[in-house]
Amino acid sequence: MQNGQIDVKAEANDFAAEIGGVDLAAGFSEETFRAIRGAITRHKVLVFRDQHLDDDAHLAFAERFGPLEGHINTATRHDRLPKIQVFQNVDQAGEPTGVHPERGTLVWHTDKSYVARPSLFTILRSPSVAKTGGETLFADMARAYGALAGPAVQRLDGLRAVHDWKRSREKSDERPATAAEIAAAPPVDHPLVRTHPDTGARTLYMGNHASHILDMDRAEGEALLADLERHATQDKFIYRHRWRDNDVLLWDNRCTMHCVMPYDAAKERRIVRRAVVQGDPPG
Ligand SMILES: [Fe+2]
Repeated sequence: MQNGQIDVKAEANDFAAEIGGVDLAAGFSEETFRAIRGAITRHKVLVFRDQHLDDDAHLAFAERFGPLEGHINTATRHDRLPKIQVFQNVDQAGEPTGVHPERGTLVWHTDKSYVARPSLFTILRSPSVAKTGGETLFADMARAYGALAGPAVQRLDGLRAVHDWKRSREKSDERPATAAEIAAAPPVDHPLVRTHPDTGARTLYMGNHASHILDMDRAEGEALLADLERHATQDKFIYRHRWRDNDVLLWDNRCTMHCVMPYDAAKERRIVRRAVVQGDPPG
């Protein structure tokens, strides 16, 4: 399908689309930008294949969508460009280390939901990908919410989930949060069901950073979040992205969750780089 100056090839259920006809490194017109902006609103996850961006071009593309944010985890910060994060399992000689760089990416989450203004869009590119495993799965949280029925839905409206970086690290079996990280990201609460400002769609907003439900028995809240995650991550709500070298992905964190599938970090080289556009407080 032709849409403005880009080609849009959507998945069968309209969740995720591959975008052709644009060279992100070469720059593009405002009209093309508007077409991309329209496509992300509709499809939530966009895939651009065979893009040859360096870090500066990656940053420039991301900045078209708004101000970028840094990350409290300085271990993955780019040496020269602090708004770029590097996730890789290779050492300086380019050999696999056997260690996935961030275990929190292996569990379902939405980026940086543990801050008051969580991430809007994430732009991730893949200079080198695992040949087996390492796919990224996305869950359509608007469709997942829409598929809930009856009293279960009414129960969710008005609830607020507490999102907590420190607890999130514990749950994903990562190194403990540092004192500086805890000071920079104390727990925050967001509506469990938020309204997408561009579409008006109601969408579940949760994931691994969500530790429990505000003003609810702790165990009961954890069980509710686990139930909702099981519901939202059924195959019918999922897009599975099989990475190729030089893919660029753009996704909307307000209405999706994602996680990385396991791969053999001792054998496969996986290098991805990320820039994140700052969002607004969920409402
Ligand atoms: Fe993520």
